[in-house]
Amino acid sequence: MAKRRKIYEGKAKILYEGPEPGTLIQYFKDDATAFNNEKRAVLDGKGVLNNRISEFVMTQLNNIGLPTHFLKRLNMREQLIREVEIIPLEVICRNVAAGSMSKRLGIEEGTPLPRSIIEFCYKKDELGDPMVTEEHITAFNWATHQEIDDILAMTLRINDFLTGLFAGARIKLVDFKVEFGRLYEGEMVRTVLADEISPDSCRLWDMDTGEKMDKDRFRRDMGGVTEAYAEVARRLGIIKEAGGAEILSFNGK
Ligand code: TMP
Ligand code: ASP
Repeated sequence: MAKRRKIYEGKAKILYEGPEPGTLIQYFKDDATAFNNEKRAVLDGKGVLNNRISEFVMTQLNNIGLPTHFLKRLNMREQLIREVEIIPLEVICRNVAAGSMSKRLGIEEGTPLPRSIIEFCYKKDELGDPMVTEEHITAFNWATHQEIDDILAMTLRINDFLTGLFAGARIKLVDFKVEFGRLYEGEMVRTVLADEISPDSCRLWDMDTGEKMDKDRFRRDMGGVTEAYAEVARRLGIIKEAGGAEILSFNGK
């Protein structure tokens, strides 16, 4: 078998050259990191679950006409995606105060926000992804005004859609992080959703118990990380009812 060319390796995913020009293969690892790589672990099965959850979410978004890089899932850990030029921003959308916003502004975790708030961080590990404003983004040419407008509109649309999708599974979408890319099609450039949407990149709370069902379980040493991700997948109808396999059991705390 021929060895594939690795294009890029991140903390939780690897990108390989795809079968056709303009495509890539996105491979989901079991590696988990937090606090800019200070805390690390391998969580058996996380990559498989994130591949499935991200496939589900991206497919639903494609179906409502929200352009994404996702083409199709190939196997347990890999998906075929369109090659895009990643815009170096982490776009965070918040509905409820939590995490760094709670810390920075002294707002108790769980406080509903008066409206959805979008924040931009400059994607640069060495700097710990610092928060930036539109002024920085346009002055340093990380994105144009038009791209920022597209990103804001798409992020709010993703938020509305995902809030409803998760609510149908009795899950509250507290916040999430998305990334966008430039898709070059001949003379045209389009802004599309890229990367992944999974419990690694969202805060998801059980609507009835408040139980955390996302990567905060890892960040805060709560245990039961993959079990919680599996419960998210089960509630969304992606995997079957818990039945024997250990990965499918979620026993709360
Ligand atoms: P924060 O409260 O730590 O800033 O996180 C906001 C959201 O962004 C939360 O859903 C987790 C997600 N996130 C990432 O996906 N990657 C990151 O590197 C960080 C810091 C947060
Ligand atoms: N991007 C962060 C890191 O690796 C992870 C996080 O807190 O979500 O370390």
